[in-house]
Amino acid sequence: MRCSLTTFVTLSLAVASLARPALSPYNVHEKRSAIPAGWSHTRRHESAATIPLRIALKQNNLEFIDEYLHDVSHPKSSNYGKHWSAGEIARKFSPSEESISTVRDWLVENGLASERIRVSSTKGWINVDVTVEEAERLMNTEYNVYTHVSGQEHVACEAYHLPEQISAHVDFVLPSVSFDTKLKRRSGSPSEPAHSLGQPGVGITPKTTGTISQLVTELEQCDEYITPICLRALYGLVYEPVSTDINSYGIVEYTPQAYLQSDLQMFAMNYSTDLIGKEPVMVSIDGGYAQTEYQGFDYNGESDLDLQYGMTLVTGKQNVTLYQTGDMVEGASFNNFLDAIDGSYCTFEGGDDYSVDSEYPDPYGGGYEGPEDCGTVTPAYVISTSYGYNEADLTPFYAERQCAEYAKLGLMGVTILYSSGDDGVAGNGDYCLNPDGTQTANGTIFNPTFPGVCPYVTSVGATMVKPGASVLDAQPEMACMEVIYSGGGFSNYFTMPSYQKTAVDYYLENYPPNYPASIWNSTGMSRALPDIAANGANYVVAVDGEFELVYGTSCSSPVSGAIFTMINDARLAAGKSPIGFINPTIYSTDFAGAFNDITEGSNPGCGTEGYNATVGWDPVTGLGTLNFPVLLEKWLALP
Ligand SMILES: *[C@@H]1O[C@H](CO)[C@@H](O)[C@H](O)[C@H]1NC(C)=O
Ligand SMILES: *[C@@H]1O[C@H](CO)[C@@H](O)[C@H](O)[C@H]1NC(C)=O
Ligand SMILES: *[C@@H]1O[C@H](CO)[C@@H](O)[C@H](O)[C@H]1NC(C)=O
Ligand SMILES: *[C@@H]1O[C@H](CO)[C@@H](O)[C@H](O)[C@H]1NC(C)=O
Ligand SMILES: *[C@@H]1O[C@H](CO)[C@@H](O)[C@H](O)[C@H]1NC(C)=O
Repeated sequence: MRCSLTTFVTLSLAVASLARPALSPYNVHEKRSAIPAGWSHTRRHESAATIPLRIALKQNNLEFIDEYLHDVSHPKSSNYGKHWSAGEIARKFSPSEESISTVRDWLVENGLASERIRVSSTKGWINVDVTVEEAERLMNTEYNVYTHVSGQEHVACEAYHLPEQISAHVDFVLPSVSFDTKLKRRSGSPSEPAHSLGQPGVGITPKTTGTISQLVTELEQCDEYITPICLRALYGLVYEPVSTDINSYGIVEYTPQAYLQSDLQMFAMNYSTDLIGKEPVMVSIDGGYAQTEYQGFDYNGESDLDLQYGMTLVTGKQNVTLYQTGDMVEGASFNNFLDAIDGSYCTFEGGDDYSVDSEYPDPYGGGYEGPEDCGTVTPAYVISTSYGYNEADLTPFYAERQCAEYAKLGLMGVTILYSSGDDGVAGNGDYCLNPDGTQTANGTIFNPTFPGVCPYVTSVGATMVKPGASVLDAQPEMACMEVIYSGGGFSNYFTMPSYQKTAVDYYLENYPPNYPASIWNSTGMSRALPDIAANGANYVVAVDGEFELVYGTSCSSPVSGAIFTMINDARLAAGKSPIGFINPTIYSTDFAGAFNDITEGSNPGCGTEGYNATVGWDPVTGLGTLNFPVLLEKWLALP
């Protein structure tokens, strides 16, 4: 039985290969399940029409990226801290000559003259103008014209096929199944700021409970008002930087969110005299600027918070770079920022997806008309971002492509921090997942945050000082349960990185969450977050000329970034490399005791109490908050 089956398979393969010598069988390469809302099928595309076929080639060596990163980031590795240059990264991962020639030969064999075939300068794409008839034959597909309710047309197919041997070298082909046409704006003045498309994490600005008028008597009231001195006391951050001419710290903001210099100066007068007269060093990306036309907590709260605390904690001696990203019209997404700090990312695995990312120069006019920033900006050693998507907002392909970029930045020695979200186990806006993958307020499935789920970023959750506690107590903090809940949980897209296995296994064995497997990823095999935490409640922030109380993991990320920047300062002063991708280090046994373990509180959401903060790592506060003196000593002991 078994024998005859084998014979049958071998025989049919032999026949197939005789009939079509160069080709393996065609497989479905990409397929769409439904036409997106608002679009309808209009007609078959004219067979003589020309379409610019763009074939995105697979990156080389991407399957080894985890290994490469571990090699320079694990404290026990002999190559610890030996980061790569941008050029080394571009060379290592650009598509292989074999991919280029295999795909080119296939096109030629199918009757496309070789002079019609162009390879992009980055070697990421093969471009060829073909007729619809040629494309349909090449990829065993049918091209259709679809019409949007607005009247706009789009050419796409339902599915396409590639020979198995070509498939291995190709990521995807455009145009094909994606409806990545960005819809033209139909009404509204172009000076209205873009809030929807292209802006990551709409609706997750930090929360405020209003303004403060009375004088804050600082250290005694840290359970009600967090000011810089409270954070210094909590995390032992007493340090005067000495490497400021070579060190760097970057904070990313997305226009129309913008800081006000008058707020920074108001904060400086009361809490940070160091910053009097000081500004962040602004780097504009894709037309970004610190706009002042639109003001209010929703426009200034995030940026004011990030800069007032980020700049104060690194002291006035250390410059902080403000990456102001996106114009007022299109806005921007994380990919637009990543394009600017890594030129090879602009076309990596095909480039941006304009259904999520913004396109520059603005194709519709009225916005930033300059060229897209592509490799124009040098990344700082530590980059903090307090914006986020829900993992489920993005396709796995999109999330993986961006996640690989964070790994590359780690290879270059950059520490990437993202806040873990403010809705506990629920997603932005308190949305939870339904079994069909949609997100609604009445969904019941836990909804983790992106990019925190990416194993190559450090995800930062939130704590608070327990009511009535003093920052001088042994452990005054618990998981944040005022106004916001610390984001945390388990990814449905990314598998568990090796660095956190021991810590997360310990949690799952000793404190198994008593929830049905249908509402959380209980496989024990997925990326768990957050990695660390920092205070995220009751921050006194100057916003629009008044001191307000602010809450969120939005506070936790820039504060952690400032602390890591001071550790880099000491390492640079000792002639060592920056700390780079920290996760393999912070979870290692060498770093046991470098965190203040948070063991109280939880992160409710989706109609549940969420997870508990426990002894050791937990999906609410990660490994705990930073203990600066211990971290400094341990990091200085590393090569
Ligand atoms: C800030 O400083 C001013 C001037 O010293 C003082 O009147 C005000 O109460 C302070 N505000 C806070 C919230 O500390
Ligand atoms: C800090 O930034 C200011 C303003 O851009 C610049 O003049 C100064 O040289 C910078 N300092 C260092 C140490 O880089
Ligand atoms: C959940 O909310 C959606 C709208 O967001 C609604 O259509 C649906 O009926 C609700 N489902 C239940 C079970 O209440
Ligand atoms: C749970 O996570 C794993 C690893 O990331 C993934 O393969 C699996 O599909 C996830 N389960 C669900 C139900 O999404
Ligand atoms: C959290 O702790 C409480 C009290 O010990 C317990 O009843 C609950 O089951 C725990 N929740 C989870 C998800 O482990």
